[in-house]
Amino acid sequence: MATVTTRAAYLRCIECGEEHEAWGTLTRCECGGLLEVVRDLSALDGDSLRRTWEARRLSLLPEDRSGVWRFRDLVAPLAASELVARAEGNTGLYPVPHLAALAGVSELRLKHEGENPTGSFKDRGMTVGVSVARKLGASNVACASTGNTSAALASYAALGGMGCVVLVPAGKTSPAKLSQALAYGARTLAVRGDFDVALELLQKLAPELGLYVLNSVNPWRLEGQKTIMFEVLEALEWEPPDWIIVPGGNLGNTAAFSKALLELRELGILDRLPRLAVVQAHGASPFARAYEGGWLELLPQRADTLATAIRIGNPVNYPKASRGVRALRGAVISVQDAEIMDAKALIDRSGIGCEPASAASLAGLRKLRESGVIDEDARVVAVLTGHVLKDPDATSEYHSGQAPNANPPIEVEADEAAIRAAIGDS
Ligand code: F0G
Repeated sequence: MATVTTRAAYLRCIECGEEHEAWGTLTRCECGGLLEVVRDLSALDGDSLRRTWEARRLSLLPEDRSGVWRFRDLVAPLAASELVARAEGNTGLYPVPHLAALAGVSELRLKHEGENPTGSFKDRGMTVGVSVARKLGASNVACASTGNTSAALASYAALGGMGCVVLVPAGKTSPAKLSQALAYGARTLAVRGDFDVALELLQKLAPELGLYVLNSVNPWRLEGQKTIMFEVLEALEWEPPDWIIVPGGNLGNTAAFSKALLELRELGILDRLPRLAVVQAHGASPFARAYEGGWLELLPQRADTLATAIRIGNPVNYPKASRGVRALRGAVISVQDAEIMDAKALIDRSGIGCEPASAASLAGLRKLRESGVIDEDARVVAVLTGHVLKDPDATSEYHSGQAPNANPPIEVEADEAAIRAAIGDS
């Protein structure tokens, strides 16, 4: 087995343990296993890291203003001149007491990743993935995507001066997300198949076509997504909530969050770990089924849900994510599309807003509370993964129907009396 010793970080296969150079183009081990970034944490001191991260908040340097690169000591050992960054991260953490009361918990905060430059958490992974791609000298990067990954990759690739290819499922990506990939100049392939097929095809063809794959199978992506947890915990003065809740699709966040939390614990920055709940859409819930089945196996399914971002039936990060959920004494559940859309309407109505997949976290919280998995005195942070404008069709459709929280538009004649009457009716 190859052993790599003296370096700031290296890649290790989570299946066979083989070690690989940090700056290689492999995104999977030769054995097929997932790779993870490893660094020697014993060389770092938790207290001084906390102070360094805090001090950087006063700096105007681009690498300090990014909510990803401010935590660079635990992200990637790159020089400032090597970064492809857009001041990503620094997203809001909003207390929502009325939604806490509705869900039946003592505290609820929403971490709104929709506030990233392209409108989703994917930017945190892409600033790292694309910076690494440029360091490797890759001239073309690629991903398969349900929409947000392609929007983020297209933006960062353009910023980094690289060619970009994205594969999206034809007819199953929100037009808003698709338009971002087109606008940022990606060669956009609408594949007549679902996300899982597109990702499989891409992974197979990437070496032959000279494409560096930036799906969350790429371990550097996850190092960037860890910073969601770093920001949340820092905002809570390193006092962990009882539960973190996140929607799950390809399970990159699930893997990244657990890695981040375990690293903070190992560094002594956290003295206890929060628990992690992952929420899937019922029609795309292989992870929830594997959890219910005691982690015996992942049975891929043909996925279908209105929350198209998480319409994934064969999540690539399953091995990392299942280990992470176990390490954090987590739970995995699924919710119906109608529950997701009702939860979304509540989040939207609170003035914050999110795309459908993101609202699975609130829908899941309600369910976990009802079933007693989460206690009534729990302090909870739910992650909203994408912006409210990511899927305007789903929102308009909801509000034009008979749904419980619908706020339909009122069409009126263009005269004073009609407008007076319509407003008076409100
Ligand atoms: N929420 C949103 C808004 C997403 O776009 C995604 C994934 C997820 C949740 C699931 O996150 O994969 O880390 O479990 N979107 C990918 C894409 C698959 O192609 O944009 P995960």
